[in-house]
Amino acid sequence: MTSPSAEPLAAPQPAGAPGAAAAAAAPMLRFSGVVAGYGGGDVLHGVSFDVPEASLTCVVGPNGAGKSTLLATVSGIVRPRLGDVVFRGESMKSLSPRERLQRGIVLVPQNHSLFREMTVRENVMMGAFLLRDRALAHRRYEEVVELFPIVAERAKDKAGALSGGQQRLVEFARCLMLDPALVVLDEPSMGLDPRTLRVVFATMRKMHGQGRTILLVEQNARAGLRRSTHGIVLENGRVRFGGTGREVLEHPEIGALFLGGAA
Ligand SMILES: Nc1ncnc2c1ncn2[C@@H]1O[C@H](COP(=O)(O)OP(=O)(O)O)[C@@H](O)[C@H]1O
Ligand SMILES: [Mg+2]
Repeated sequence: MTSPSAEPLAAPQPAGAPGAAAAAAAPMLRFSGVVAGYGGGDVLHGVSFDVPEASLTCVVGPNGAGKSTLLATVSGIVRPRLGDVVFRGESMKSLSPRERLQRGIVLVPQNHSLFREMTVRENVMMGAFLLRDRALAHRRYEEVVELFPIVAERAKDKAGALSGGQQRLVEFARCLMLDPALVVLDEPSMGLDPRTLRVVFATMRKMHGQGRTILLVEQNARAGLRRSTHGIVLENGRVRFGGTGREVLEHPEIGALFLGGAA
C-alpha cells in the first residue's frame, strides 16, 4: 500500500496532447509554485502546472483538496502568498478581479450564482456589465442565444424558476457575454441528473470547440477527464499527477486512489 503522502507519481508534464496543435506554444495559464489559503493557514502548498492554450484541462481530487481555492487564485479572490499565476506571460499578482475579467478570464462558480428574482435575460445581460458598447452587448446576446436556446425560451422567466441544470446553462451563457479566452468552471455537473449532466458537458465542449481554453474542476472525475485534453490530480493542496486526460484516466494507481477503482 502506497502512502498517500508519497512523492508525486509523476511530474506534471506540459504534455504534447494528441491533436493539440498549440501544445508547443507558451501556456495560456501557468501556476508557478502557488502557496495560498485563508487567514487560518495554507490550503495550496506549492502548486505548479500549465494550462495549455486551447486545452480543456480538468482538475480532479478529493473534497477539500483545494480545487476551488486554486480557481480563486485565477479569478483573483484569493491571492497567492508565494508563487504566481501567470496568464499569457503576464504575472497576475497585481491584477484585480475586474482586470482579470477584462483580460478574458471568466469563472462560473461552484454554487449557483444567478440572481433568482431577475429574469433569465437580465441575468445573461449582467455578464456584459464591463462592456461600454451596448450595441456590442446586444449583438453578443444574440450570439449567445444561438448556442443556448434555453435563454431565448425562458428569457422573461425569473432565473429562480429554472431547474438546476437550466440555471447552469444560463450561467454558461452569462459567462460568454465577455467573449472569454479562458473559461473557468467549478464543478458544473454538481447535483445534476445524468441526462442534464450530458447536456451541460456537451455545452462545455461546444465552448471549447469555439477555440476557448477551459479550466474545469470536476468531482465527477471520470466523466470530466473523459472529455478533457489534459488532467491534473490535486490532493491536499499538491499536484499528485498530471498528463493528458487519457493518461490520468488510465493510470492504475490514480484510478484506484482517486477515481473509485481501475478504469
Ligand atoms: N472561505 C474560506 N475560509 C476558510 N477556509 C476555507 C474557505 N474556503 C475553503 N476553505 C478550506 O480550504 C480547504 C480547501 O477547500 P476547497 O478549495 O473548497 O476544496 P475543494 O474545492 O477541493 O473541495 C478546505 O479545508 C476548506 O475548509
Ligand atoms: Mg470546490
